[in-house]
Amino acid sequence: MGISKGDSIIIVGAGVFGLSAALELKQRGYTDITVLDRYAPPAVDGSSVDLSRIIRIDYADPVYCQMAREAYQGWTTEYKDEYYESGFALLSETPRNDWIENSKATVLANGGTVEDLKDATQLLKSYPNIQADLAGMNGYLNRRGGWADAARSIQKLASRCSVEGISIISGPRGTVKSLRREGSRVVGVNLLNGGFLLASQVIVSTGAWTNRLLDVAHAASSSGQPVGFIQLTPEEARSLESTPVMINMSSGVFCFPPYPGSNVLKLARHGYGFANEVTVQADGVTRTVSSPKLESSNAQTGYLPEDADEGLRQGLRQFFPKIGDRPWMNRRLCWYTDTPKGDFIIDHHPELQGLFVATGGAGHGFKFLPILGKYIADCFENKASKELREKWRLAPAPANSAAYTMKGDGSRAGPPLRQLTHVEKAKL
Ligand SMILES: *[C@@H]1O[C@H](CO)[C@@H](O)[C@H](O)[C@H]1NC(C)=O
Repeated sequence: MGISKGDSIIIVGAGVFGLSAALELKQRGYTDITVLDRYAPPAVDGSSVDLSRIIRIDYADPVYCQMAREAYQGWTTEYKDEYYESGFALLSETPRNDWIENSKATVLANGGTVEDLKDATQLLKSYPNIQADLAGMNGYLNRRGGWADAARSIQKLASRCSVEGISIISGPRGTVKSLRREGSRVVGVNLLNGGFLLASQVIVSTGAWTNRLLDVAHAASSSGQPVGFIQLTPEEARSLESTPVMINMSSGVFCFPPYPGSNVLKLARHGYGFANEVTVQADGVTRTVSSPKLESSNAQTGYLPEDADEGLRQGLRQFFPKIGDRPWMNRRLCWYTDTPKGDFIIDHHPELQGLFVATGGAGHGFKFLPILGKYIADCFENKASKELREKWRLAPAPANSAAYTMKGDGSRAGPPLRQLTHVEKAKL
């Protein structure tokens, strides 16, 4: 295939996959890299934006656990200004939650330490200001973990890309409408403003928007997950400042300590989410896929479907009973790119030359920001281990179109995936 360092590379998508890949490739000597996105990073409706993302090394899967440990090094050094080590508690109502047990075993096998919570009320010893009633729950606490400021981390990464000489183009001149093809070769991208850009290599890292550009319905699909924000008073924030990131594996709802300074509390659900079915046309084929809107921001209306709002509200009442009825200051759906087993997709396209795909964050990609680019570049340069190449392979679509399920890695909870209705879609 012979990619040389002087070849022009276009990276579509300035989220954590696209930007980390851009920076790493530049550092490996590729000289001509352009990153395109609808919005300047951090994209307002991307999955790498807003106040916080969980940073954890806790994984049932040993590969991601090891990668997360490596990323943790980055969070505690290079990105220490963006990282907050609050501790991370995994909780469950069931006597034995398989994912929690497997994660604990994997962390221990990797030389980590955890504090067992056979009775979750033990957590109050370390964090007396937790409001939740934890009686009857169990799980464990990992003190090495917490959260990172997602918007600020992406900003830092993007500005490092700029300083290194990578072009980042946003707006109509950076919005890709379709891939530009010559037969089975991708030769560039067609833009929303009617123009186009040519490149030797196109890297698609468009997250939840990927199925709009490329038919990967068998490998990934988008789901919207509810997120809500609550304004606390300075006193309330102070009382909650030394609380851990907590996830309730029985409901999928997770929460963060208040954001320092603005005193905003964030809560979200790691569930099966909501599908937004849209019709897209590319290469003369019309397809129905689940994807967020392309031509306007998905973060503007603050709309949540009623059942999503209710689920999150219940989570708020359970984690923070003292403020359980406070109105949201903001809400939205956060768009995941789900894959069948929660594995990323990082591979040369099996059929189209000049095309590489790096996507499929499956709701857990952000934490790898400090090191993800290295893994993507290794796959791009065909240097990654056989195990990783297989794990992140983009298989060709099977001939018979079945209904694909994108359940992830077994860490989700809550109601099953639901299609948004026409009325709901109009409100997004
Ligand atoms: C966790 O979720 C379960 C199931 O929805 C719920 O019964 C419990 O109250 C929740 N606990 C906390 C602390 O969120």
